[in-house]
Amino acid sequence: MSAMQEEIRRRRTFAIISHPDAGKTTLTEKLLLYGGAIALAGSVKGKKNSRHAVSDWMEIEKQRGISVTSSVMQFNYQGFCINILDTPGHQDFSEDTYRTLMAADAAIMVIDASKGVENQTRKLFKVCVMRHIPIFTFINKMDREARNPFDLLEQIEQELGIKTYAVNWPIGCGKEFRGVFDLETRHILSFEGDSGKHMVSQTAVSPDDPNLAAVIGKENHAQLAEDIELLDGASEEFDLEAIRAGELSPVFFGSALTNFGVEPFLRRFLELTPPPLARNTPEGEVSPFDEDFSAFVFKIQANMNKAHRDRVTFLRICSGKFTREMEVYHVQGDKKMRLSQPQMMMAENREVIDEAYAGDIIGVFDPGLFSIGDTICAPGKKICFEGIPTFAPEHFARIRHKDTMKRKQFVKGVMQIAQEGAIQIFHEPDTGMEEVIVGVVGVLQFEVFEHRMRTEYNTEIIRENLGYQYIRWIGGNVEKPSALTISGDTKLVQDFRDQYLLLFTSEWNIRWALERNEGLELLDFSKG
Ligand code: G4P
Repeated sequence: MSAMQEEIRRRRTFAIISHPDAGKTTLTEKLLLYGGAIALAGSVKGKKNSRHAVSDWMEIEKQRGISVTSSVMQFNYQGFCINILDTPGHQDFSEDTYRTLMAADAAIMVIDASKGVENQTRKLFKVCVMRHIPIFTFINKMDREARNPFDLLEQIEQELGIKTYAVNWPIGCGKEFRGVFDLETRHILSFEGDSGKHMVSQTAVSPDDPNLAAVIGKENHAQLAEDIELLDGASEEFDLEAIRAGELSPVFFGSALTNFGVEPFLRRFLELTPPPLARNTPEGEVSPFDEDFSAFVFKIQANMNKAHRDRVTFLRICSGKFTREMEVYHVQGDKKMRLSQPQMMMAENREVIDEAYAGDIIGVFDPGLFSIGDTICAPGKKICFEGIPTFAPEHFARIRHKDTMKRKQFVKGVMQIAQEGAIQIFHEPDTGMEEVIVGVVGVLQFEVFEHRMRTEYNTEIIRENLGYQYIRWIGGNVEKPSALTISGDTKLVQDFRDQYLLLFTSEWNIRWALERNEGLELLDFSKG
């Protein structure tokens, strides 16, 4: 195997998803701790501030350097080179998470043991399923009162439609939490409690140990014996193929805050997750081990440093090796170029890098050339990775500029912010950019948009909220979208690719349109 292939084979690139507060940040910190990327837990920042209000978001903006450096974290652990893609905590920015998942080869789903599957988990899970990537479940906060573990697994299976395979099993919970029984090694890892700042020493005890009842308590002992019997009879068999196809989710119980069960989880996770996956193009798959470099844009963050008006584009490398001086080809722009100041994020530091491999994420300075979903590859090649889907926004507003003198800035701001994917823009057929309909997944995005228009583009806008709740891309055999039979309060619009969509005020109207237009298909995402 060549040195390049060796490098690619040891890479693992994944995202951690959760409903806010389930413990994603805490788990991320602990994983970094094992990789030695941070000395002490408690240094992953940037997310907390996005929780409640715009004022908090402005705080984030101040710290943008930090929130950006924590977008991707790379560290080495036991021979693996790990890339963790961070996803925003606030659900109003979940679109960002959807796109990030496009760059991941696996996902870790963190679930709060007392709450089970929550709203945001459901949404994000749907995106993982679209990609058929392996999904690992970490049931967190076992040191607090938790729901019955069998009920939790059942809920995951029923609500998310994925089978589960318990790797370990909790012994008690809350104050009574005594550890986990590893169903694969048939050992008990006993929980000794810890402040979470250091790596805990975990004692492995055999379930046949005569002292076991004394260690975990008589009641827990009896309950464990009963649970094991049930599990041995009824749980799913280990099936690596099903895991890698995203059909079977390995489940781990633990407590991120107290650092219990995190390292065994990380180890097993690394064994079971695949190295970088092949990516699709209309001409066929591109193998990560292909000698020729290729990558796609999955995230753009503009004006990270206002003084410099910079814009950083994040690329996921799909094949080959990237070197700093190499010439690349931007397919959508039909241009050869060198990527400027390629950087990699190591926990809190950014460094300019000389080389990177398939599976890695690099950030490059971008004067406004790239859009989300663009492909960059070796010159002479002309491949185009499948686009990044756009998901249906849920809130809509009509926006105009207050001051007609500022038209140019208005158009530039709206376009650039939309290019980043921070908002989606639509227009009525045959109208210009003076008046656009902005769609967002979370209302907080509106406020951030207004704030950025004011501070970055010096433009005040007038926003009129619209009562639409649903938007659907028009699919199927529709020759003339303007000739569709739609109710009076449904509106026909186009997106920036000039694809036609319909805006609806209710689900009832969606059904109405489907019933009256034969062959009409309505999609809640666009393939990009
Ligand atoms: P998120 O990124 O998914 O939104 O969650 P985050 O890690 O920020 O965790 C949310 C809250 O849950 C935090 O408390 C965190 O300390 C706590 N937490 C995370 N994992 C565990 C666990 O295993 N056990 C217990 N008992 N708590 C856990 P907070 O009070 O909101 O924040 P902080 O002030 O402690 O930072």
